[in-house]
Amino acid sequence: MPRASPARTGLRTFGAGVKHLDLFSGIGGFALAARWVGWETVGFCEIDPYCQQVLRKHWPDVPIYDDVRELTGETVGHVDIITGGYPCQPFSVAGKRRGEADDRHLWPEFARLIRELRPRWVVGENVAGHINMGLDDVLSDLEGLGYTWEAFVIPACAVNAPHRRDRVWFVADSLGTGIRANAGAQSRTEVECPQLFQEDWQTLPDDIE
Ligand SMILES: C[S@@+](CC[C@H](N)C(=O)[O-])C[C@H]1O[C@@H](n2cnc3c(N)ncnc32)[C@H](O)[C@@H]1O
Repeated sequence: MPRASPARTGLRTFGAGVKHLDLFSGIGGFALAARWVGWETVGFCEIDPYCQQVLRKHWPDVPIYDDVRELTGETVGHVDIITGGYPCQPFSVAGKRRGEADDRHLWPEFARLIRELRPRWVVGENVAGHINMGLDDVLSDLEGLGYTWEAFVIPACAVNAPHRRDRVWFVADSLGTGIRANAGAQSRTEVECPQLFQEDWQTLPDDIE
């Protein structure tokens, strides 16, 4: 099966000069993709010291902000896109599913930074368990902030991992253009990855990173 690549996704048309802020950066998955398409990652926000070490090794010149609860738009400055795989524990079927009651529910901080920074684009990622717990609120918060959005389910095996592990993604646009016209990831997945729809496909708990 062919791998997803910048050329295949067409993302190169949205490349050089784009300023990218990555929240909940982990070890920099979004920033790696950003590098592939030519975006400039201008800041990370990650609280875990080990993840910070990994980020520092690969992006030595990019500032790492520690706790998202203390980060302000003013500190970051202008960005065109914010990405974030916000913590999944509040929604994961492998946890207690306490949703908003969970201390690790950090979507409100993500939403606050969107409000303060007003990026053109926002991309979010989370576990499939978020679809029936919390995602509606996230998407309606985005609408309240003036964004249109499109949500997708993309499994890990769509990029050649040997297991399914569904993830939900959303892309939100402050101008309300272009998303629907460019959408269709699910149907494209269906065409390009027919094995996803085989019943005996191996699945793993959705909080495995
Ligand atoms: C699901 S992981 C994101 C993985 C990431 N997208 C990657 O490519 O590795 C969520 C991350 O949020 C971080 N995190 C949790 N609480 C945070 C906080 N208060 N401020 C900043 N980062 C936080 C965790 O340490 C974890 O690395």
